[in-house]
Amino acid sequence: MSIGWTPIAEEAERAARLRHPDRHSMPKPAHRRILTVANQKGGVGKTTSTVNIAAALAMHGLRVLVVDLDPQGNASTALGVEHRAGTPSIYEALLGEIGIVEATAVSTASDNLLCVPATIDLAGAEIELVSMVARESRLRQALSDEVLDELAVDYVLIDCPPSLGLLTVNALVAAAEVLIPIQCEYYALEGLGQLLSNIDLVRSHLNTALHVSTILLTMYDGRTKLADQVTSEVRQHFGGTVLRTVIPRSVKVSEAPGYSQTVLAYDPGSRGAMSYVDAAREIAQYGSRMGGPETNGA
Ligand SMILES: Nc1ncnc2c1ncn2[C@@H]1O[C@H](COP(=O)(O)OP(=O)(O)OP(=O)(O)O)[C@@H](O)[C@H]1O
Ligand SMILES: [Mg+2]
Repeated sequence: MSIGWTPIAEEAERAARLRHPDRHSMPKPAHRRILTVANQKGGVGKTTSTVNIAAALAMHGLRVLVVDLDPQGNASTALGVEHRAGTPSIYEALLGEIGIVEATAVSTASDNLLCVPATIDLAGAEIELVSMVARESRLRQALSDEVLDELAVDYVLIDCPPSLGLLTVNALVAAAEVLIPIQCEYYALEGLGQLLSNIDLVRSHLNTALHVSTILLTMYDGRTKLADQVTSEVRQHFGGTVLRTVIPRSVKVSEAPGYSQTVLAYDPGSRGAMSYVDAAREIAQYGSRMGGPETNGA
């Protein structure tokens, strides 16, 4: 029997990479990337994926801004960022009362990881925005090139609420890329058609650069046949857009936010943490190969 590359060796290598992230830095994108993490289905792993991919990119030398666009403020919580009512937040920035820089806080997860928090005030924004000028483009205006240059970020990840309302539309107008997390569960693909046609609508009317660049399968449970069925159906349908890395269902992943932490900080050696590092690496590698300027036109 030859002693070749074994799963254990692979695991050991991944653990070493995680323990010494600086020595295994991820490539900078060819140009700044703005990804909107969207799926109007609730609880599919939007927030978990946003914060853990952001933390993995930041741990490996990239500078990342997370925009929490969900009044629940779950991303702010997981990143250890204050989001009590009254905290300068994305709400005031959307209304144009303050700039993004004023609302930006540094996450406890990493000095390279910034977050614009969401407070409960954002719950009213869906309605307040309706009567505003350029109501679909408020976030794009707030996240101007000048602002993002000042923050010196390589990546912006926008965590959306579970709806296709004005907040999500603002996120789709502000980004060039959409990252769709899909839960390996019953009805996983339900409603996806509606999301895709909304993306098409935004592309044709408001943001020609918009495209689905990344699909991430989440909460995979290897013990069920169903998870494999969903995985192969999604891969068949979306091909190379689907990341090779699949995020396993893991108790550690779900426990981490309870400690205001990402799973990378809470249990760096866990399978959940390692799979998010692998997913982030795939995203970063794709980004470093992307040619030409790709902006949202702001
Ligand atoms: N890989 C995983 N393993 C176990 N639990 C997970 C995993 N990913 C997410 N969860 C848990 O599932 C729940 C939903 O995840 P999350 O909040 O990320 O979804 P969401 O799409 O952002 O939800 P919402 O639509 O409410 O914003 C959370 O309790 C989270 O901790
Ligand atoms: Mg969420």
